[in-house]
Amino acid sequence: MNRAEPVSKLDFHNGEALTFRDAGQISEYALQMWLRISEAAIMRNGFFTAALSGGESPIPFYRRLSTVREGGCWDKSHIFLVDERFVPYESGESNYRMIRETLLDHVSIPETHVHPIRTDSGTPQSAAREYEKELTSFFRLQEGGIPVFDMVLLGMGSDGHTASLFPGTPAASETERLAVGVMKPDGLTKERVSITFPVINHAGNIVFIISGADKAGAVRDVLERADISLPASHVDPSSGALVYLLDEPASRLLGRQGNT
Ligand code: 6PG
Repeated sequence: MNRAEPVSKLDFHNGEALTFRDAGQISEYALQMWLRISEAAIMRNGFFTAALSGGESPIPFYRRLSTVREGGCWDKSHIFLVDERFVPYESGESNYRMIRETLLDHVSIPETHVHPIRTDSGTPQSAAREYEKELTSFFRLQEGGIPVFDMVLLGMGSDGHTASLFPGTPAASETERLAVGVMKPDGLTKERVSITFPVINHAGNIVFIISGADKAGAVRDVLERADISLPASHVDPSSGALVYLLDEPASRLLGRQGNT
């Protein structure tokens, strides 16, 4: 395995931002993190839990991770979704379909270890309630308990959204529920279902994969200006680790003064 070295590193109040030459280097570094975190979780608890995001940015990593057949401890890993568009699994917009095609269909993970958000009936709200039940059952939560994922993998939109928690929406302000239905905010084509910040912020390791120059403004506003109008600014682990894996275009405004 090639060792991926960041071209730059910045520390922030609650985490660090590592910039890499390209998506391939991000994927290698994310793979090193995945293997380290999963091995430690399996040693500690006997299994590893991860919640994965959709979108384009994580696809190179999912494809790279799919090449790890042995030693990936797939029989002790459980994969959940951070969020889902409220579409049939067969839809080209389905996060579950993308994660199956780029990763899960290529590794020997038991079917019972894959936990998609069900979108084949009801409403985004009822699907969120069902996912809450699944999280509660799997993590054996007491009343009011919050699951602790070993890893949550996030992306970020140019508007600073993460998961399906969009600026100014009730979902982004949810502090009690584990999962919520998301009505179509402006510009969204589909309703969604998303885990909430209480779940994200309880994770042992939160990893952002952010690529593209269109994200540079939001990256600066979240990391350097802590602009709380941007949902990604509310990713603040209660005790876990937070790392941003960025490509150079996405990090180009970091460490500059003024409004460049
Ligand atoms: C989704 C994702 C979403 C994504 C961001 C960034 O369902 O689309 O969960 O939060 O991470 O929109 O998307 P890109 O990686 O495609 O820029």
